[in-house]
Amino acid sequence: MEYKELIKQLDKKRMPQHIAIIMDGNGRWAELHNTKRINGHKKGVETVREIVETSVEIDLKYLTIYAFSTENWRRSKDEVNYLLKLIMDSLVKEIDELKKNNVNIRFIGSRKELSASYNKKVMETCARSWNNTGLHLNVAMNYGGRREIIEAFNQIYQDIKTEKITETEINDELIGKYLYTSGMPDPDLVIRTSGEIRSSNFLVWQTAYSEFWFTDTLWPDFSSAEYIRAILEFQNRNRRFGAR
Ligand code: IPE
Ligand code: IPE
Ligand code: MG
Repeated sequence: MEYKELIKQLDKKRMPQHIAIIMDGNGRWAELHNTKRINGHKKGVETVREIVETSVEIDLKYLTIYAFSTENWRRSKDEVNYLLKLIMDSLVKEIDELKKNNVNIRFIGSRKELSASYNKKVMETCARSWNNTGLHLNVAMNYGGRREIIEAFNQIYQDIKTEKITETEINDELIGKYLYTSGMPDPDLVIRTSGEIRSSNFLVWQTAYSEFWFTDTLWPDFSSAEYIRAILEFQNRNRRFGAR
């Protein structure tokens, strides 16, 4: 069924507020098509564009996409450099269109391994969209869930030392404020493509009660129709949050 038809089946009262996606399988897609891994990543960007557009269409509030993990530096130098450039180039290329669509984009992740000029350009480009009030799009770039928690610990420690807060204030809510996702709702739904059934250090704190949805589809082949099907399935789940 065409995705526009599927959208009509969505229950407006049970829409997820925040969807997070582990976009996996670009390399295997490339292998399957007898081409270089980088061509899989390039094709993957087209899927990102489609899924962002569809997210706007269904009035989603928050979408977080996993673009590059703190572990992805372990890949070949060529692949890493290609990914860094592809992510930056895509941001620069798409920013006007994103702005037009009322998308508010930011990068979340550690700045540590990225150059000062890279971080600055990301910030300046994203800032052009920060008056927008539609979809909040988070690009998880040099992101690691454990790293995020470590950075939060360090900042909390600093703020206790300088008496901005006291240790008695430490609770779920306070810790949430020290994460990259401060002020955002936790993901309701996490989607992972390519058949891998793991979280790979994605949103470790925030996904404590998220619903997970997995598909064997490789990210470059992922479509709006499958995306809406995932949301429809999410709407049929029974979330209990520990209650009966
Ligand atoms: C996901 O595709 C993109 C990134 C992790 C940057 P992969 O590159 O992990 O693709 P596979 O898992 O090797 O197929
Ligand atoms: C997770 O995918 C990271 C991103 C999608 C950016 P990976 O392909 O790096 O994860 P593993 O190595 O299979 O766990
Ligand atoms: Mg992978």
